[in-house]
Parts: sequence; C-alpha cells; structure tokens
Amino acid sequence: MRDFDSLPSADGVWSGLRGLDGQPCAIVVSQGNMAWVGAPEAMPAIYAGMPRHDGGGALVSPGLVDCHTHLVYGGQRAHEFAMRLAGASYEQLARAGGGIVSSVRATREASEDALFESASRRLQCLLDEGVCAIEIKSGYGLALEHERKQLRVARRLAGAHGVTVRATFLGAHTLPPEYAGRSGEYIDRVCKEMLPALHEEGLVDAVDVFCERIAFSLAETEQVFEAAQALNIPVKLHAEQLSDMGGAALAARHGALSCDHLEHLSGDGIRAMQAAGTVAVLLPGAYYTLRDTCLPPIEALREAGVPMAVATDHNPGTSPALSLLLMANMACTLFRLTVPEAIAGITTHAARALGLEQSFGVLAAGRPANFVLWDLADAAELAYWFGQRPVRGIVRNGKLARTPSGAA
Ligand code: NIG
Ligand code: FE
Repeated sequence: MRDFDSLPSADGVWSGLRGLDGQPCAIVVSQGNMAWVGAPEAMPAIYAGMPRHDGGGALVSPGLVDCHTHLVYGGQRAHEFAMRLAGASYEQLARAGGGIVSSVRATREASEDALFESASRRLQCLLDEGVCAIEIKSGYGLALEHERKQLRVARRLAGAHGVTVRATFLGAHTLPPEYAGRSGEYIDRVCKEMLPALHEEGLVDAVDVFCERIAFSLAETEQVFEAAQALNIPVKLHAEQLSDMGGAALAARHGALSCDHLEHLSGDGIRAMQAAGTVAVLLPGAYYTLRDTCLPPIEALREAGVPMAVATDHNPGTSPALSLLLMANMACTLFRLTVPEAIAGITTHAARALGLEQSFGVLAAGRPANFVLWDLADAAELAYWFGQRPVRGIVRNGKLARTPSGAA
C-alpha cells in the first residue's frame, strides 16, 4: 500500500466531466478543497492558469459514504453461514453462544496490529470502489481494553488511508459471556466506565446500541443514550431488525443521527424519525444474508419524507459485503428504492447519517475534494451493474488516490 501522504495532490482544474445529471461539469481543486464546481463555460478566469486534469468524458459523483460498518474484527464466521443454510436462524445461533459472541472471542485474541492489517485489506476494497468516508463501529471487544483496541484501529485506518472515519462506540452490542444474567451491571459499566474513558481518549464520534430481544432492552438503550448525551456525543441505533422494540421512536426522541436496519419499523417509529430528522439507514446486505422476508416499510418512509441511506453493514455474521455499489443495487432490487434514491442513499443521506452533511455527499465549493470518476454513460448504471467496478479515477481528501487514465 502506498503511503497516503505521498500521493499526488489533486489540485487543479478538472474538466471533461459530466455530472450525475449528464451535463458537462468542471471542478476546481485548490489546497485539497473544491474551490469551484459548475458548468465549464462559467468557470471564473482566475482559475485558467491552474494545472489541468482531463476527465476524458467520465461521469463524476461525490465520494461515496458507507455509513454503517463493523469493519474491525478478528476471524470470520463462514461456518455460521453454512449452519444457517442448513436451517439454523441468526437468533438460534446467537442464543447458542455463536453469533456476535464468537467474533468477540476472536477479536479479544487478536492484537491491534493484526486487526489493523485485516481491516485494512477490507477497507481497501471499499476505497477502490470510491468510498471516501466510512463509519466503523466497535462492539466486538465488549471490555474496555478490547473496545479501545478496535476504536484505535479505526483511527489508524483513517490516517493510513486518508479516508474520513467516524468511529462509533457500540459497547452495547451484545452481553459478553462473563456478564451472563447481569445485563444491568454490564450496561452500568458501559455507561460509567467504558464510554467516559474512551471519550476522554478522543476515540468516540457517536454511540450505538443493538436494541433487540437478543441484545439490549429499551430501558437499557435509553440508559446508554443518556450517558452519551451527558458527554454531548450523538447517538444512533440498531433498531427493529428482528422485532418491533420501539427503539426507533426512542432514538428519535434522543435526536439520533440515524436508525439502522428497520425491517420491523412501526408507523410510530416513522413519525418520530420524521419529526426528529433522523436518517433511516437501510442494510440490504444483512436482509439478504439472513434471507429475511420482512421488508422495511420503504413506501411509508418515502411518504413521510424520512431520508433513506444505504450502507454495507459490513460484519462477519450478517453482511460480509465489501461493495457499496452492490448494496445500492440490492436496495433497488430487494427494497424497491428508485435509482436516484439509491444514489442519494450512498452519498447525501449517508453523509447526513454520520453528521457529515456539511463536508460530504454533494459536489460543492468549500468542501474537501472527494469525488469519483466513473466509466459510465449514465448515472443509473451506478445501481445497475453488479460485480464490476467501473471506477476510472478517485480524488480522496484532496489527493489523487487513483489516477484517471487519460488525465493530464
Ligand atoms: O448490524 N445487528 C447487530 N449487529 C450486526 C451483526 C453483527 C454480527 O452478527 O456479528 C448487524 O447486522
Ligand atoms: Fe450493524
């Protein structure tokens, strides 16, 4: 892997581009930021002397945003995949001591360096597809030192790859085995010891909980949210994935950035999310892997005007997915999103789900230069193909992360 800092700067005038609307478009990059974006003929003369980059007719989109991942973990769970194919459910495996807990064992055993190496390889797949900002959750450590290890790896990944990372503390992912029957005690520890310590170390950008009958109750979720809010940390929630727990409404009342999964989301939950401006993060990779049959209420979310994002939910159990474009395709095919909704789902709305709406998700002056050049005729192709990577060039964080063929 080439050191990110040694990559060439993307500063200069980018021409020969077409926007997602198909219209000719130029972007001026100066000192790593987009200084100007618009129709080529309208570009102010002051930029004329800058270095030129020829996009060669490529389609240009904002850098993609993967707003829900569990990228850092030890081991893998292919054996559970086989067991599920043989008839076991996710819930049965979890109750039998498999599921998240088996990744907790492997993550606790792994060194920070080993976790960094394995997560780096996975991250590279997403970056090669144009991801420029990503959320990475902890939640496979479930003890202070191991949660710290995961979050430190998330920070190191940001530095090494020049990608914007939002690190989310998911200490309340499931009950660690040593706390069996003592859920209240564990949640106290999450709130009073783990979260304050990790926050103090600057490792926490948001706090998440898995609110589910195989994880934590509504009251426990609220306790974690209150602890987060006392420290001014934004919250989000794994909500209504396997059952309607009322988690989305609770999260919305706490001003959550997003509620994620949502297959069993109720009308009350939708109304609360709408009122709070909470983003609905759809995770078709988990829906597909678990062979779920309960669709998230897309039409009702659309009618209520709740912004919908789409993410990989990359994790070793329910979504071993390393392609955000495939998730956009699945969101259309499985969930019936329109193509523009799917594209907004991996750009604008995904940025909002991370609180990054001021810097990511749209091409606009004043933002860090993050954009992707695509070998595609039409924006609809972003959600149409699957299994190929039509990337021609990538500008990430102001650097030429992948040089477009034909660029000057
Ligand atoms: O988002 N639902 C809870 N958490 C993950 C699954 C984690 C795992 O099975 O390891 C999810 O699907
Ligand atoms: Fe998840």
